[in-house]
Amino acid sequence: MAYKVPFVDPREHYRRLKTEIDGAISDTLSRGDLVLRHQLREFEGNLAEFVGVKFAVGVNSGYHALHFSLVAAQIGPRDEVITVGHTFVATVSAIVHVGATPVLVDVRKDYNLDPIRLEAAITPRTRAIIPVHLNGRICEMNRIQAIAREHDLIVIEDAAQALGADFKGQRAGSFGLTGCFSFYPFKILGGFGDGGAVTTNDPEVARIVRLLRFNGEDRETGEYHFHGYTALLDNVQAAVLDVKLRHLPDWVKHRRMIAGLYRDGLDEVEGLELPHFGNDSYGDVFQNYVVRTSLRDELREHLRAEGIETLVHWPKPMWKHEKLALESPNLTETEAICREVLSLPMSAETTAEHVEITVQAIQRFFSSKLKTVAVMN
Ligand SMILES: Cc1ncc(COP(=O)(O)O)c(C=O)c1O
Repeated sequence: MAYKVPFVDPREHYRRLKTEIDGAISDTLSRGDLVLRHQLREFEGNLAEFVGVKFAVGVNSGYHALHFSLVAAQIGPRDEVITVGHTFVATVSAIVHVGATPVLVDVRKDYNLDPIRLEAAITPRTRAIIPVHLNGRICEMNRIQAIAREHDLIVIEDAAQALGADFKGQRAGSFGLTGCFSFYPFKILGGFGDGGAVTTNDPEVARIVRLLRFNGEDRETGEYHFHGYTALLDNVQAAVLDVKLRHLPDWVKHRRMIAGLYRDGLDEVEGLELPHFGNDSYGDVFQNYVVRTSLRDELREHLRAEGIETLVHWPKPMWKHEKLALESPNLTETEAICREVLSLPMSAETTAEHVEITVQAIQRFFSSKLKTVAVMN
C-alpha cells in the first residue's frame, strides 16, 4: 500500500543526496578501491572525531560491533552480562553468542536502563553491562558508570539508535569501553545495506576489533592472531557513509524540529504519552518518535486506514519467543511497553505537512474515543 505519510522515505532520501552519493560511489569504483582502503579509514577518522573518541572501527553490522566488543572485553562462558529486556534482539544475541548469560532488567518510563534495577541484578558472576540508548536517547550514564566502577564492571554501550545523542554534552559511544553503532539503512546514519562500527579510546580494543573483522589477520604482517570473522565494513559503503556523516548535524536538528511539532500538536491529547522527558542533561536525536497508549492497536489501525504508516518496536517481549530459549525475567514495564508503544513517522525526510496530517488523525481518533465514553456514561 502507498502511504500518504510513509514511516521513512528512502527514495526521497536518495533523490536529495543523489549527486553526492553517486559521486562517492563512482569515485571509489573507478579507483578499484573495494576493500579496506582510504575511504574506510577516512570515514573511521571522521566518525571517531564526531563521537569524541580516539578510534572507530568499521564492521558489517551493529550486531558485530556488539559481538566483537564482548570478545575484546574477554566476556565468555560463566559470565553474566546485564542489559535491558526492551531492546532489539541483536543486543542479547551477541551476549548469547560469546557463551555468556544475558540478564535482562526492566526499563524506566524513558525506555532506558533503570540504574536501580541494574544494581539489584548484579551478582558475583556479572562482568559487563550493556546500556542501550534507545530511540535516540542516552541512558543515565553518570549513574551507570558509577555503578560499573563500584562493582568493577565493563560498560559496552549499545548506541545503535543514538549516533549524535548526548548526555551532559558528551556523545553516545564515548562513555564505555566501546560504543556500538549500526548503519542499517533506516538508522540516523544509514548505509545502503548493513553496516556498523565500534568506537573506543582503548588502542588494544581497537586493534582486536580490526583483527576480528578481518579473519584474525594482521594486514601488515599477514599473521593470523586468532580465528576471526569476515565482517569488514565495505569500502564503498564507507565512502557513502562519509558523505552522509557531513549531513548528520542537520538531520539531528531536523528530527528535533519534527519532534517539537509532534509535541505541539499532541501535548494535550489525553491518554497519549509523548517521548519528551524534560531534562536538560539529555540531547535526544529521536531515532524513533515513540508514543504510548493503552489503545495502541486501535490507534495504529486508524492511522493505517488514514494512510499513515507506523511501526511497533517491538510487539512481543523477546523472552516470549520460545526458540530463543531465554529465561523469563518477569519484566512488567517491558511487557506493558510491548503492548502500548507506537513509533510515528520520523526521518530526515519527514515534513511539517506529514506531522500535521498525523497529528490531526491522532486527535480525531482520541476525540471520537472520548465521545464514545461520554455517550456510554
Ligand atoms: C538497539 C539496537 N541494537 C543493535 C542493533 C543491531 O544493529 P544491526 O541491525 O546493524 O546489526 C540495532 C539495529 O537494529 C538496534 O536498534
